[in-house]
Amino acid sequence: MLIVANWKAYVEDLPKAKGLVAATRRAASRSKATVVIAPPPPLLGALAIGNRSRLAFAAQDISRTTGGAQTGESTARACMAAGAAYAIIGHSERRAAGDTNGIVAEKLGHALAQGLIPILCVGEKERDPAGRYLAFVREELRAALEDIAQKDRTKVIVAYEPIWAIGKHAKDAIGPHDLAEMVLYIKKVLAELLPGNSSARAQVLYGGSVEPEDARSLTAASGIDGVLVGHASADSRQFASIIKELS
Ligand code: 13P
Repeated sequence: MLIVANWKAYVEDLPKAKGLVAATRRAASRSKATVVIAPPPPLLGALAIGNRSRLAFAAQDISRTTGGAQTGESTARACMAAGAAYAIIGHSERRAAGDTNGIVAEKLGHALAQGLIPILCVGEKERDPAGRYLAFVREELRAALEDIAQKDRTKVIVAYEPIWAIGKHAKDAIGPHDLAEMVLYIKKVLAELLPGNSSARAQVLYGGSVEPEDARSLTAASGIDGVLVGHASADSRQFASIIKELS
């Protein structure tokens, strides 16, 4: 089980960040899950450099550039230097701020070139009765992966985050049945995009209103390999109980 904390911009000072890391470390030490924290970029290095715990760190986003005269950009290489092992790419909040499928693909390439493990976010804005959201998710996956070398595609973790379920509460998250169906669909699309039968090992996460109340029902029979947690990951008690629920 992979449990990823996307702190988004909920954490803005170092004492709070350090307290959250300590509480998360304690909860993770009682669990077999792999726990990854994605702090806001200015805090990443302060928390992740020299980290010797079982926790791993992620960048919330990386630049589409590789360096040079690019004021304000955090390149994949700089994120690695700051202690990240993973990078969230194509989050809907970055897509809303201008990341097209093409930009997401470029970022994915840079993450892989630097050895960051990409967590590629896909997900529809809404569920239409005609089922067009399936083609939308398929297109996001295809556009992100088609220019990536076959052997590198197997390193990508996919996070299914339906936009309509983000930032709400447990009762608004996707139902386990619909999630199981989507995980099957994503694995089917990955089987077409990944070499040989490597898609059987592909990891698929779910994100969107994961809270202590729904963590277990979402993961129990849906076939997901982990969760990507937003608001509840910035609350030490809630996140610790999510880790406990999934242990
Ligand atoms: P919430 O858990 O706040 O719904 O956010 C989900 C998300 O966007 C994680 O990346």
